[in-house]
Amino acid sequence: MSVTRAVTMGCGHYLPERVVENAEFEATLDTSDQWIRERTGIERRHFAAEGQLTSDLAIRAAKAALENAGMTGADIDGIVLATATPDETFPSTATKVQTAIGMKGGYAFDVQAVCAGFIYAMTTANALICSGQARTIMVIGAETFSRIMDWSDRATCVLFGDGAGAVILQAAEGTGGAEDRGVLSTDLNSDGQFHDLLYVDGGPSSTGTAGFLRMEGREVFRHAVMKLAASGEAALEKSGLSATDVDWIVPHQANLRIIRKTAEKMGVGMERVVVTVQDHGNTSAASIPLALSVGVARGQINRGDLLLMEAIGGGLAWGAAAVRW
Ligand code: ACO
Repeated sequence: MSVTRAVTMGCGHYLPERVVENAEFEATLDTSDQWIRERTGIERRHFAAEGQLTSDLAIRAAKAALENAGMTGADIDGIVLATATPDETFPSTATKVQTAIGMKGGYAFDVQAVCAGFIYAMTTANALICSGQARTIMVIGAETFSRIMDWSDRATCVLFGDGAGAVILQAAEGTGGAEDRGVLSTDLNSDGQFHDLLYVDGGPSSTGTAGFLRMEGREVFRHAVMKLAASGEAALEKSGLSATDVDWIVPHQANLRIIRKTAEKMGVGMERVVVTVQDHGNTSAASIPLALSVGVARGQINRGDLLLMEAIGGGLAWGAAAVRW
């Protein structure tokens, strides 16, 4: 049986120039490099320059992905961009990327699922390709979380960073089996009853301001490990796969302890997990495509490898994707 698969054609990323080491926070907050490293695994993060927008990061990542795939903007039919920190309330940040990369037509829109955004965006792009509504889609995760930090809240502001990553998916014929390249299966979940664990206390229809991130870190942690492992297993099971088949887990990079515990719960050794949290911090929707692009550049991820991506964030919203690179 022949089926249409959304196959990865290339990827790229961009990190803003300014690197902020943990120690910099010691000047303004009652915190330490040691506390941040031990509790989170984070050592540094990148912050966008003043005036540098989410779209600027996304455009750089998109151009890097085009170069990596040997394509131009004219080859792209659609952009699905995941962000919780858009340039403006509207229009979408994706339409800015559309113009900047020289797309001649097609469509571009944003997806909002906070840290799970890339999984949601990839699932959407996969559905559009498999249903024949696009041949080639650029999936982007791009964030400037530094713009929604309360710099007096040591429990949140040391955790996040800015960045962008992009992956290009294109229709190809597959057999329908788990040996196919491309997106094999995905699993999406959300539960709005957990709103208060992680949210931003502003918005156009509530306060009229952008607001600041608020989080019950310990509670989010507790949900994260359980829900990520269950979603990862559900995504694999839909393709008749299990954790033993996985070459690389490419997890949302929020906290090294969450990454470790989730891998442990799934029975996957840390030598099969791509980790970038030490250098990027938590970049929300950008963290998985950033880790993917870095994993490819490091030579960890190779063609044919089975990847399991998993993420959780505000909503709560969480999910996973099994993808053969
Ligand atoms: N420096 C020093 N002390 C701190 C800091 C800091 N930066 N932040 C918090 N503390 C203190 C707390 O005030 C608390 O002090 P107290 O005992 O005197 O009240 C103590 O450290 C312990 O606080 P906890 O919150 O219990 O610390 P925990 O070990 O849970 O670590 C952390 C906190 C890192 C936030 C952890 O809970 C976590 O990572 N949670 C998951 C959050 C996350 O990853 N969210 C992102 C997923 S969703 C998304 O990506 C948007």
